[in-house]
Amino acid sequence: MPVTQPTVHVTNHLDHDYLRQALEHDVRTGLTASPKWLPSKWFYDAAGSDLFSQITRLPEYYPTRRELAILRERAGDIARRSGADTLVELGSGTSEKTVLLLDALAASSLRAYMPVDVDAVTLGDAARRLAARYPGVTVQGVCADFERHLALLPRTGRRMVAFLGGTIGNLGPAAREVFLKELRDTLRAGDSLLLGADLVKDTGRLVAAYDDAAGVTAAFNRNVLHVINRELGADFEPDAFAHVALYDAPNDWIEMRLRATRPMLVQVRDLALPVRFAAGEEMRTEISAKFRPAGLRAELVAAGFTVDRLYTDPDGDFSLTLAKV
Ligand code: AVJ
Repeated sequence: MPVTQPTVHVTNHLDHDYLRQALEHDVRTGLTASPKWLPSKWFYDAAGSDLFSQITRLPEYYPTRRELAILRERAGDIARRSGADTLVELGSGTSEKTVLLLDALAASSLRAYMPVDVDAVTLGDAARRLAARYPGVTVQGVCADFERHLALLPRTGRRMVAFLGGTIGNLGPAAREVFLKELRDTLRAGDSLLLGADLVKDTGRLVAAYDDAAGVTAAFNRNVLHVINRELGADFEPDAFAHVALYDAPNDWIEMRLRATRPMLVQVRDLALPVRFAAGEEMRTEISAKFRPAGLRAELVAAGFTVDRLYTDPDGDFSLTLAKV
């Protein structure tokens, strides 16, 4: 018997022109700034998504395991309290943790699952896998940038928007405020938000989680240079950049940087942009903000949400907040 592939719909809102223009804009802006920086969303091509999956299994990287532990314990409670029949997942990646939520929701009234991610390949794989697991559920993958395409959320059903993994931390405070307000405005009474956020803790553990002994995070960090080389014809030598992870305590965020190990002149051919690096120069590639429960509640309330429950794992490492509108 042939294996029947379930039908899944994947809508791509990131057509080639859109992605290309966004990348060109971000690379030009970031590499001509002082200090230089690059947005973390460009880590996630197929290789980068795969490296991130490897990160989630590293002994030092606790967030994924802690979030899973909370979900194992609380998914039933979350599903009941939300009453959702439609799950929208922003930055879904491989959707590994989603299964726990979907199982809990499927016990009651689940009708639709909509994963939203920037990487079309990872999105398609995840959508097919989940469509096979939940036969009666409509799976509609959306390839989009969650910061810019919130208007594409489904308009029917009682929705729960899950934004897991701590990805909210990749936005700085100002961008978070805008994002949470826009998200709030696209939701209706009865809808909810399930937000995963990493919590402030011992600096040593925080830094180790972003500077693992096996060097997987370093490879993930350098992957952004491979992406720019391939997509924009640049000639970065990724191995000439050292991985840097530090904790900025006043701002409560981890910062990843790439440090030029020697002076370099890099050409970004498609932008006709020459970029000089001094020896030791550091370029920021990611912030990953860490939260305190009170601050997290305050940000959600300021955006117009009501906090229904804030769950943490027993060690208080990670949080999942169920918020309603
Ligand atoms: C996927 C954004 C949650 O910030 O912890 C992992 C990405 N960067 N290691 C995080 C990441 C370095 C991760 N998020």
